[in-house]
Amino acid sequence: MAVDDPLDSFDTVLVVDFGAQYAQLIARRVREAHVYSEIVPHTMPVEEMLARKPKAIILSGGPKSVHVEGAPSLDSGVYQAGVPVLGICYGAQLVASQLGGEVARTGRGEYGRTPMSVVGSSVLFSDLPTEQDVWMSHFDSIVAAPAGFHVTARTPDAPVAALEDPDRRIYGVQFHPEVMHTARGQEVLKHFLYDAAGCRPTWTMTSIIEQSVTAIREQVGSEKVICGLSGGVDSAVAAALVHKAVGSQLTCVYVDTGMMRAGESEQIEDTFRRQFDIDLVHVKAADQFLDALNDIQDPERKRTIIGETFWRVFAEVARDHEDARFLVQGTLYPDVVESGSHSDQSSVIKSHHNLIAFPEGLHFELVEPLRALFKDEVRAVGEELGLPEEIVWRQPFPGPGLGVRIVGTITRERVEILRAADAIVTEEIKRAGLYRELWQSFAVLPAVRTVGVMGDERTYAYPIVIRAVTSDDAMTADWARLPYEVLERLSSRIINEVPGVNRVAFDITSKPPGTIEWE
Ligand code: XMP
Repeated sequence: MAVDDPLDSFDTVLVVDFGAQYAQLIARRVREAHVYSEIVPHTMPVEEMLARKPKAIILSGGPKSVHVEGAPSLDSGVYQAGVPVLGICYGAQLVASQLGGEVARTGRGEYGRTPMSVVGSSVLFSDLPTEQDVWMSHFDSIVAAPAGFHVTARTPDAPVAALEDPDRRIYGVQFHPEVMHTARGQEVLKHFLYDAAGCRPTWTMTSIIEQSVTAIREQVGSEKVICGLSGGVDSAVAAALVHKAVGSQLTCVYVDTGMMRAGESEQIEDTFRRQFDIDLVHVKAADQFLDALNDIQDPERKRTIIGETFWRVFAEVARDHEDARFLVQGTLYPDVVESGSHSDQSSVIKSHHNLIAFPEGLHFELVEPLRALFKDEVRAVGEELGLPEEIVWRQPFPGPGLGVRIVGTITRERVEILRAADAIVTEEIKRAGLYRELWQSFAVLPAVRTVGVMGDERTYAYPIVIRAVTSDDAMTADWARLPYEVLERLSSRIINEVPGVNRVAFDITSKPPGTIEWE
């Protein structure tokens, strides 16, 4: 079935990626200004970019100098298309060098906070102070603007910190407006989006939800849909969206592996069955998982067993719902970009024809309602749909659950110890107001026992390790500097309240060299 692109009704801004990490952040900032954005590789032919009918194009920063051999470039036809262009950092240098200006190795790069002066009239800086601090990160400098451009800002070491050609609607800024260190950066971006490019700020939560609902209805028609709930925010929001779209055509499946966090199963029952009145299949499969894991110590082996058992259990339920043609997946936009599939333009938004085959030979077409969204947008959609805060703001939790936090053999007794300790960690971290600012905070159960003394008695019991990290994307992480008072409460509560634990330690390893999880 041909489906119209639901995103057609939003203005689209393309963010051209030159290989640094800036493109995603720029794309998010554009969305925060309520304009839909998509990341495209710089190798995409200009005709393809234009085929998406962009209302504006932003050239992102990049790692290289425009003078280095093999520096990423762009078809200069982009400047003749009549679509407003904003070059940022490397992108600004590219604009200058491709249109006949001069980018020189002055030997005076700028890094970090830099005072900038606005000179002359400007679309990008209108209403903004003439003196402002911006965030710079460049070695080469634009020293002469191309003909037709005027210079709109300078810094002590950058004679052309910003340039504009309002007639052709081409703009460039040497600094990074997308980083929070550039205090007025978002306003500069908004001036470009609204005033220079005429974008409409229609990418709001209400309209995202309306468009998704329409798209899901068009894709699914009157067919049945199945959705696995993991307890995490992505699958929960995806399920709530699909339910809003097709109501009772949706069945959700929640597999309790026996390694879920305390209260997780009740929360899912409460939210999906009672609050949303969704048809929910709650599979209590703890015995199946724990039996399969009996005596297994090797971390990779454990992960494999948990994964295989999950699919076996899920496939059993799916077989009971053989009339379901669609399966919901909570794929997010960063997964789409990072998996490189954005170079294949047809797969960016429309994944309607992705077909996944299960190990057991079952086939489903995928419904991926979050495929265009960043994580913060998913949370906002979840809130708008009325999902409870506990689900919407839940920290990430690994697929294999508490299983990757129990070093050595996983037994029912050891899962109970960890679950109880983990619940205390969550409770105290929330009480201290730290839950949202930490990427993850949880308990780990090592495979050793240590000697202690409680009352007059010698004990020989497990330690619990507290792991708390800050991170932006889980690729790198730092151990969180938890206040001593919080650590003290954690230690005394865990030892007093969790039988089988007589010691608490705090993991002070960053990633790298450690990973966030212990297995
Ligand atoms: P590591 O331990 O590799 O974890 O630093 C990075 C992030 O990924 C999460 N994680 C998983 N998530 N399935 C998941 O869905 C998994 O098997 C898995 N293993 C780790 C981890 O919690 C952290 O946020």
